[in-house]
Amino acid sequence: MTSTNLLEQLSNDLATSVDPVRFAASLGITCDPWQANALRSPHRRIQIVAARQSGKSLTCAIYALWYAIHHSNVTVLIISPALRQSQLMFRSILDFYAEMEHKIPSDIETALTLRLTNHSMIVALPGASERTIRGYRADCLIFDESALIDDDTYRACRPMAAISDAKIFAIGSPHGKRGWWYESWAHSDEYYKIKVTASECPRISKSYLEQERRILGQFWYEQEFECIFHQAEESIFRLELIEASIGDFEELDINLEDDEEESDNEVPLIDSSHELHLEHLDDLQE
Ligand SMILES: Nc1ncnc2c1ncn2[C@@H]1O[C@H](COP(=O)(O)OP(=O)(O)OP(=O)(O)O)[C@@H](O)[C@H]1O
Ligand SMILES: [Mg+2]
Repeated sequence: MTSTNLLEQLSNDLATSVDPVRFAASLGITCDPWQANALRSPHRRIQIVAARQSGKSLTCAIYALWYAIHHSNVTVLIISPALRQSQLMFRSILDFYAEMEHKIPSDIETALTLRLTNHSMIVALPGASERTIRGYRADCLIFDESALIDDDTYRACRPMAAISDAKIFAIGSPHGKRGWWYESWAHSDEYYKIKVTASECPRISKSYLEQERRILGQFWYEQEFECIFHQAEESIFRLELIEASIGDFEELDINLEDDEEESDNEVPLIDSSHELHLEHLDDLQE
């Protein structure tokens, strides 16, 4: 290697060690502006409410790997509601790690754990529950699909961050006006908040979004792609949105004209899971 090349490599290594966005670039990822903002943010608590497929898990995967590579003796914990989500994010971490040219070697590499010889590790805890996560310490905590992580689990995780003042990413798409994640978004300023709608994502086409709006209907479209937390207590949603989503309710004799205050109390509520939703519609139609 010539001295110019060596100098170039050293300056690149230095840049990626202090800048996760440069680190992403070294792995072939050009960050969207909001991703760069999240990765470079000095805030210790970052909440990302973003459309499906906008790139929130990838952003945190990059951060997790960058942080573990460039800091010794740190632990990154990824908490997600189910094995599938953990595997997805962890797979991309391992793939990025495999792609790296100059890297700290690993001494443990499994489907859910990566430990490096600088004594840093990244561990995914799928389906974490309040009981299973006690005892861990973390320097960086990532909550993936946060809307589906229950309040008890979140509360049990917070002490892990206490001693190290851990960096916390709480990422996800809306899922009803309930739980710690919604409360944090709507009523607290603890987290630095980043909102990303699907139309802001350069990889999601307009025509795809138009098609999804037609197929999903207003309620689901707004929830999945426009970051809207819909009226809901325990995953319920209002009939007027269902009406907009799936059609003609005139025969059901339901007053959809009430103003919001009244309708919150009076309009029947329906569980957002598809089966219950359909069951309830059946009930109404009998
Ligand atoms: N800046 C980027 N450049 C290129 N591809 C990207 C970028 N950000 C994300 N992607 C790709 O977009 C896809 C979706 O990313 P990701 O899984 O992180 O989204 P998500 O918001 O977590 O989605 P979901 O809501 O389904 O969990 C992946 O294939 C990912 O590799
Ligand atoms: Mg994701």
